[in-house]
Amino acid sequence: MKTLRSMLFVPGDSEKKLAKAFSTQADALILDLEDSVSPERLPLARQMVCAYLSDHPRGQQAVWVRINPLLTELALHDLAAVMPGRPDGILLPKSLNAQDVVKLDHFLSALETREGIALGTTLIIPIATEVPGALFELNSYAGASHRLAGMTWGAEDLATAVGASSNKTDNGEFDFTYQLARSMCLLAASHAQVQAIDTLSVDFRDEAALRKDVLRARQAGFTGKLAIHPDQVLPIHAGFQPTPAELTHAQRIVDAFAQAQGAGAVQLDGRMVDKPHLTQALRLLQLATKD
Ligand code: COA
Ligand code: MG
Repeated sequence: MKTLRSMLFVPGDSEKKLAKAFSTQADALILDLEDSVSPERLPLARQMVCAYLSDHPRGQQAVWVRINPLLTELALHDLAAVMPGRPDGILLPKSLNAQDVVKLDHFLSALETREGIALGTTLIIPIATEVPGALFELNSYAGASHRLAGMTWGAEDLATAVGASSNKTDNGEFDFTYQLARSMCLLAASHAQVQAIDTLSVDFRDEAALRKDVLRARQAGFTGKLAIHPDQVLPIHAGFQPTPAELTHAQRIVDAFAQAQGAGAVQLDGRMVDKPHLTQALRLLQLATKD
């Protein structure tokens, strides 16, 4: 699968936002049937999402659907309603562990068979930290399903679930519980060898803060980020590009090794660099040549 740098949430019942979403450059849209849709409008949203999927043959932009949690009876109805539209993938909220992914995998196999879609086509990304118990089972996802394409995390539902009144500290950073969830998600995705996708930034008018968030996410190892507003898409893409200073430094590391004639460790500006640094430098240079 192509790396999804940006995944833009679009409320599934908003004609205006669905139309606008198509014109954005988001790598993927997530047509939402869960938290951004009221229960009364869910039947309509299911129809609108299926119509959108059917009317928009996939080009550059992948189209995913966020269904309701598997614990609810809504989830199967959501899936049955949208699978005729052949979504690229399903975003699974409030996932508890790999068993949820396996269950969804089976549901998808049944529905793919019904729709004449090749088995295994529809991918899965769980939101893996929205319920407290999920934090203790993050290692379970590795190898759970061939459909597992990434993992992401959420701070809003987790805060609600633990009875917090805020998930931020006074200086605007995530409180420790949510930083822990973020790091655990990153490690779990890496362990499962799938894309780690950072959570959304809620202050969609604050572009400077978003740019900082994306930079930190990339430096930490995330390769994608959730978005909630079209204006967030391009800053996210820019943030997943290495900066000129980073590229210069990476090239200097590569050059230092080239000149060291087989040495395993060299010095650069008075600091030791060895094999892990060389691997990081090569990966960074490769990332820059991709776009
Ligand atoms: N997808 C597509 N279009 C969107 C959009 C989105 N997520 N968010 C905003 N837009 C559109 C608006 O409809 C508006 O269109 P227009 O120029 O044709 O009028 C334009 O972008 C500018 O929007 P703006 O006025 O800045 O914001 P808003 O008040 O309309 O919407 C939110 C703000 C937060 C309600 C909206 O961004 C949103 O619904 N985000 C997604 C929410 C969601 O899915 N949450 C679930 C995941 S946590
Ligand atoms: Mg939620």
